[in-house]
Amino acid sequence: MKSVLKILGILLAAGIIFGAGYLVSMKQKSNVPPPPTVDYFKGAGSKDIAALQQTEQRNVIEVKPGQLIQDAINKAQSGYLIRVYPGTYKETVYIDKDNIYLQGIIREGQWPILEGEKTRNDAILYSGNNMVIENFKIMNYKGNGIMGQAGNNFIIRNNYIIDTGVYGIFPEFGTNGLISHNILSGIEDAAIYVGMCDNIDVLYNEVHSSVAGIEIENSRHALVEGNYVHDNTGGILAFITPGLPIKTCYDVIIRNNFVINNNIENFGEPGSIVASLPKGTGIIIMAADEVTIENNIITGNQNAGIVMTDLNFIAHITKDPESEPNPDRIVILDNIMSNNGSNPIDELKAYKVANLVTTPGIDIVAIGGGSGSCIRDKNKYITVGLNNYSQCQSAGTGNIISYMLPEPAPARDTKTEDRGKLIYYGICSGCHSYNMRMIGPPVMTIQALYKDNPQGIADYIAKPVHKRTDFPEMPPQDYLSEEKRLEVAKFMLSIDK
Ligand code: HEC
Repeated sequence: MKSVLKILGILLAAGIIFGAGYLVSMKQKSNVPPPPTVDYFKGAGSKDIAALQQTEQRNVIEVKPGQLIQDAINKAQSGYLIRVYPGTYKETVYIDKDNIYLQGIIREGQWPILEGEKTRNDAILYSGNNMVIENFKIMNYKGNGIMGQAGNNFIIRNNYIIDTGVYGIFPEFGTNGLISHNILSGIEDAAIYVGMCDNIDVLYNEVHSSVAGIEIENSRHALVEGNYVHDNTGGILAFITPGLPIKTCYDVIIRNNFVINNNIENFGEPGSIVASLPKGTGIIIMAADEVTIENNIITGNQNAGIVMTDLNFIAHITKDPESEPNPDRIVILDNIMSNNGSNPIDELKAYKVANLVTTPGIDIVAIGGGSGSCIRDKNKYITVGLNNYSQCQSAGTGNIISYMLPEPAPARDTKTEDRGKLIYYGICSGCHSYNMRMIGPPVMTIQALYKDNPQGIADYIAKPVHKRTDFPEMPPQDYLSEEKRLEVAKFMLSIDK
């Protein structure tokens, strides 16, 4: 942690942190109850939340050791602030309401701890809009640390997420969010997983000892900045998973990050996509478009510093006719890169030989198709396969401070939107793709099993039995009402892509 502070200090001194206001606001947190109004979600990446906090009044529920956070959530109404005192809380918290501010109180170095004891699946699930979750230590869960299920406008900041299973912080199908100043480790799949989202800032997090550090998947308008991503299997990924309801991934900025020594052994669930991520990869762009990589420090990643690839990178991946499989219009500006690619996987070694590159190491490699990409100064790096990259004319992304929206996104309206669809997008798509294996089996397989039997699915997901020895167990979705389970079951049976 010390070294991170040092590095952040240097960053600050260099003047490339835009969120100085955040650092100020974190210090003041322990005094005044700071409840969010919609103003919190207006381009919050560049706002001084402390100033907002001082002007607001709202109802507060306090939670002390021995009590349950869930009881407070159940009592709370829209607009409530829930303050959780230091202590250990052994529960799963499910927030199915809008406008909830869930705040841990840190006092004399003591944090509120959510402890999963490796028996509980999730620590915090929310499906409401306008959500703030901050100041928790979350550890030893099996599924997710914090998962957002189709909620718009969220701030998840200043949490420790340690060994929480498959995903650490995982907003799924949400618009307008900020994930900042969290520290995550020990995650089997993606530590920070932005899935099928729009307008998200991922700022100043530290992510280590996980399989994938930060994933931007089937998402648009994402800013990944100032993060310290080290000692994972792969550092930062922007990619398309085929077979999900949202088919594209574009307009991603990856800048001012430290992507260092991501060389740990892959401990992902065998058979999952992420299990085929080769260790030693700093940044991977797979089939995503319009990704700008600027001003990062990328060193010591033994496979390669930056990999651009089409979907063939993953063995046995199923094609999706609606997802274009190549990385297009990638912009690589100035980055500091050294000591990458000292021990690449065999395929890369062979690819290097085929491209007649004899210098030791690989900073940047492009494999497969793609067009319209550029690099500012190819000669600064050891590159392989960038023959069709032109020289970039782009002046850089300095004019973009945040990708959050100037006004909050409208709350999702379950009266006008199909609720089964929202649940499918917001929950099931985290593990089920239409035509290929993710964490769970393909939806096509499930449809064949449960044709004309939505009730069967609704029952199964409330109390899943472990059927397939080559898959993990499916976590129960028993927090969903019977009615909702039936709705999502019907939706799952109805889709054809
Ligand atoms: C955290 C990952 C995860 C999430 C989220 C998830 N599933 Fe699953 N699902 C799995 C896994 C893993 C299996 C395979 C379990 C087995 O065979 O033991 C599975 C299996 C299934 C099956 C097959 C049952 C059978 O009889 O073979 C159905 C149906 C299903 N899931 C429906 C859903 C629905 C509906 C949702 C959303 C509400 C959902 N799942 C969310 C991981 C997940």
